[in-house]
Amino acid sequence: MAPLILRPSSPAHGGAAVARDEGKVWLVNYALPGEVVEAEPRGRQGGVAVAAAIRVLEASPHRVAAPCPYFGACGGCQLQHAEYSHQLELKRQVVAEAWERAGLRLPPDVAVLGMDHPWRYRIRGEFEAVPEASGWRFGFHRMRSHAVLPVDSCLIHDERIERALPAFARAADELRLTGLQNLLLTVEPTGPGLLWRLRFHGRAPAWPRDEFAHRVAALLPEVTLLDEAMSLELWDMTCRVRSDTFVQTNYRQMLVLYRAAFNMLRPQPGERVLDLYAGIGTISVAVARECESVTAVEENPHAVQLGRLNARINSVRVEYMPGKVESALREIRLGRHQAVILDPPRAGCEPAAIAELIRLGVERLVYVSCEPSTHARDIVALVRGGYRVRRAAIVDMFPQTYHIESVALLERS
Ligand SMILES: C[S@@+](CC[C@H](N)C(=O)[O-])C[C@H]1O[C@@H](n2cnc3c(N)ncnc32)[C@H](O)[C@@H]1O
Repeated sequence: MAPLILRPSSPAHGGAAVARDEGKVWLVNYALPGEVVEAEPRGRQGGVAVAAAIRVLEASPHRVAAPCPYFGACGGCQLQHAEYSHQLELKRQVVAEAWERAGLRLPPDVAVLGMDHPWRYRIRGEFEAVPEASGWRFGFHRMRSHAVLPVDSCLIHDERIERALPAFARAADELRLTGLQNLLLTVEPTGPGLLWRLRFHGRAPAWPRDEFAHRVAALLPEVTLLDEAMSLELWDMTCRVRSDTFVQTNYRQMLVLYRAAFNMLRPQPGERVLDLYAGIGTISVAVARECESVTAVEENPHAVQLGRLNARINSVRVEYMPGKVESALREIRLGRHQAVILDPPRAGCEPAAIAELIRLGVERLVYVSCEPSTHARDIVALVRGGYRVRRAAIVDMFPQTYHIESVALLERS
């Protein structure tokens, strides 16, 4: 099919811009609303035609040159061609539209909290291993593909992670390792630790793990290589983090997000708070300092174990209920808690979890989400169940990418 001339007019969730051409809807990657672009068709996505801008005929005043040499090929970033303040505005529009589609109005004074320096923010990265003639390399999936693009740099990761990649590849080459699948690296934001986990395709073979770690450590004198757990400082508290548990990848904005959520939650002395989808309990320990106790619900047993340890390290009262939120909530007595904070994965809450929240009818509920469409869907269900949206904020945890984090305060009306 020949290139098309498209005029995208609004942002779509996913980083593309939406264009209409003779009644047909296109999602145009690497284009900005208000531009005129020459675009190449690139198949379909969720039933909608997709195209990629290959030439900009009329540029948006918000267009900038993407600084990363892999931008356009790498599947990691979608928005580097938009100046940062405009990325924030596009994200606000995407959230407003998701809320509107669900039948809600995003509060007009919604705060959009961006970063002063929106680069080098990721403290965790997962890199796919790829064997090349010269040896092992690490990289990311290409845009909308399972093929791997090896990279030498990534401007959104902590520089220590970028510098570690060739060291891991070199040690793997020296020990002639085969069957590598991926490498997960997490750095301590305020310490020298680098936590690592190497995965193999299929079952992990018997391999010289200690010798491997020793060689990598010798190549990276600036970091302390850790294979068990690392520390994450949270104001004057500290939490232990492992590779098999969730951690907010943007540490600087994690503090902004938690501050925004706590300002909405306003935990008071004497109150009991529920922390749902609690992970390793970073939110729980911070909230527990301000109130009588926190009940944390989490299904990942590794996270529960670490969460209990984190509560002990910080001398706070956090009681874990291991298991799924939708089942655990059935065990909670009416009137036991005065506030709830919840932070589910992208899929949002199961309908049974929403029904239980409505049954409990806790006065204040703060809902943190990394997916605007499920956030809006669940908020509407809570509003139908008797809640009102009091405040909302968007916290940019993922600059240069399409991902969006938002938080809302709901109160019983
Ligand atoms: C987005 S993370 C939030 C973690 C934590 N609040 C934080 O900020 O670090 C979501 C967590 O929910 C857990 N999870 C996912 N589905 C769950 C369910 N149905 N019930 C309980 N926990 C669940 C995951 O294991 C993960 O730890």
